[in-house]
Amino acid sequence: VGQEDAAYFVSLIRSISGFPKEGILFRDFLPALADPRGLSIVQEALLKALPVAADQFDAIAGLEARGFLIGPQLAAALGKGFIALRKSGKLPPETLAQEYSLEYGTATIEMEKEAIKPGQRILIVDDLIATGGSAQAAAQLVSKAGGSVAGFSFVMELEGLQGCAALEPYPVSTLVSMP
Ligand code: ADE
Repeated sequence: VGQEDAAYFVSLIRSISGFPKEGILFRDFLPALADPRGLSIVQEALLKALPVAADQFDAIAGLEARGFLIGPQLAAALGKGFIALRKSGKLPPETLAQEYSLEYGTATIEMEKEAIKPGQRILIVDDLIATGGSAQAAAQLVSKAGGSVAGFSFVMELEGLQGCAALEPYPVSTLVSMP
């Protein structure tokens, strides 16, 4: 996308300091999705910035909740299916689960046990990468299910947290980098 579109998209990202707790500058891209031009920019930009060619993956997996807002439309545009990686306790059995560390404590993501066919190559998407903890858990879950990780697509990257470095050697694309 052009520079003007990119700047327009970034201008729609809302930043909230002190949410959900003190010291966090929360980056909210929902206003960019609510805007017709913003929505089409993000869709086009994600398609153009794919970390690997579209013939190098078979399906897209998105992380709950904001990965669900970009994954299905991207998958549909590419003629692929979409797999939901959910927060724990939402899916009926049987599921596969992966625990990961948060700043305080742990969290677990789950997916339907048969959602990935053996050997399927999966592109993992989410709105934002911070430390990369949930993205790494997503990769482990995809591997557990018998799939292989083709790469990661994010809309926003938080600078200074080394999230993308944590995902090496997978191909990663991010649209905007934010302090
Ligand atoms: N997830 C982790 N850090 C975040 C932040 N600063 N804004 C939005 N989502 C986040």
